[in-house]
Amino acid sequence: MNMQEIVLNTQSERVAADFIKKFCSEKQELYDQKIANDADKNQIAKLKNMNVPEKGRPIDSVVNEMIEDIYQYGYRLNHTRFLGFIPGPASTFSWLGDIMTSSYNLHAGSFMNCPAASCIEEELINWLCVQAGYSKEAGGLFVSGGSMANMTALCAARDKMLTEDRQHLGVAYVSDQTHSSVAKGLRILGVSDSRIRKIPTDMNFRMDLNQLECAIQSDIAAGFVPFAVIASVGSTNTGSIDPLEEIALLCKQYNLWMHVDGAFGASVLLTKKYKHLLKGIELSDSISWDAHKWLFQTYGCGMVLVKNKDNLLNSFSTHPEYLKDLEMDNDSMNPWDIGMELTRPTRGLKLWLTLQVVGSDMMGEAIEHGFQLAEWAEDEIKKNSDIEIISPAQLAIINFRYAPQSLTEEQKDELNLKISKRMIEDGYAGVFTTVLNGKKVLRICAIHPEATEYDMRSTVCRLNQYYNEINQ
Ligand SMILES: Cc1ncc(COP(=O)(O)O)c(C=O)c1O
Repeated sequence: MNMQEIVLNTQSERVAADFIKKFCSEKQELYDQKIANDADKNQIAKLKNMNVPEKGRPIDSVVNEMIEDIYQYGYRLNHTRFLGFIPGPASTFSWLGDIMTSSYNLHAGSFMNCPAASCIEEELINWLCVQAGYSKEAGGLFVSGGSMANMTALCAARDKMLTEDRQHLGVAYVSDQTHSSVAKGLRILGVSDSRIRKIPTDMNFRMDLNQLECAIQSDIAAGFVPFAVIASVGSTNTGSIDPLEEIALLCKQYNLWMHVDGAFGASVLLTKKYKHLLKGIELSDSISWDAHKWLFQTYGCGMVLVKNKDNLLNSFSTHPEYLKDLEMDNDSMNPWDIGMELTRPTRGLKLWLTLQVVGSDMMGEAIEHGFQLAEWAEDEIKKNSDIEIISPAQLAIINFRYAPQSLTEEQKDELNLKISKRMIEDGYAGVFTTVLNGKKVLRICAIHPEATEYDMRSTVCRLNQYYNEINQ
């Protein structure tokens, strides 16, 4: 290959076409495969020894090596019975959108670079804001995911609510169920752990309002400056939704920014049946919402929405001399002025493509299906009297544990961990553990639109089988 072929290389076009064909045919067999394929020590050692060569190699062999030696290992988060963490059942429409996004490779930092694509992203953000009940002043941005959305919103919160001389006194309130990315983002923004209050939750894993108000009052009395409460809509452990309307009232009373981490649960806004559960989200100042979770997108697609988009501008707008030619003189904002990134891909187009093809009604039904999946699992779980339900089915998540009376609490923890490991080794389903109320529990999070009642019931039956074998 000569240097002139680095950018436009016809070989890579042929290999891309072959790859897509092969990938699509193998995708059909995904559900017959195990949910995990572990890379053993030898495989990792082989990869570690693959140095960057001084002279290039034939493209076919490199691509084949990537398929055989790299991509096939790990958890298959898009399997119908992968029920751990937040699974990633990505739609092939999103996958196509990703291919198009990287094919055209538009620089979506500024409107002028790609006016039509920027317009689509902006309109889609506006539509999502309407779904959340925000009014015209609202806006937002497509970002890489929930962690970035949380940090972006909290940066706007810090800058709006705290003057520079009081930033070192700012206090933020999360619950013991808030996702770890929130505290991580706060720390990056200069709010250290000593000024992040972890408010306990009630028996339904919702932020305890009395304890929240007490904490705010005692911080004020101690000379701190409370500035933000982070409510969860669909907490990662249990799918719980914090009392949004009540938190909004407290935020109003004490002049605090209300951020909603809806990375997982905000998608429920698109359902007809369950949208009411999120009542009060419209009172928040900002929302995180991941499309690569319950909107079935490939990774790298999240949204941050703010009630007043000027607050993003306030935190992120810069005007260097070398970008003056691309400044806007209309109502639209350059994405680089409302978020962290300068260069960014058109992340929102794959979601737009998916929604155009699928339609919002069917998207809503697919999200509702997750509720049903967790309910089927719950129904099967209830048939076994040795199982204790720790958090019932809500927002596609259920937590439970095998708890025979003969065992101590520690033994029960070990037992449940063993059952989870056995299931993952066998590869039938991905059921992992978490800790709730100090107990190790099994957790099912089921959002795959193609998962069936049989998938859920048979998974629980397998867990029962492992329980019987291990507990003999
Ligand atoms: C509630 C919640 N918030 C934030 C995040 C972080 O999102 P991401 O992994 O996209 O950064 C997650 C991830 O699972 C989550 O469940």
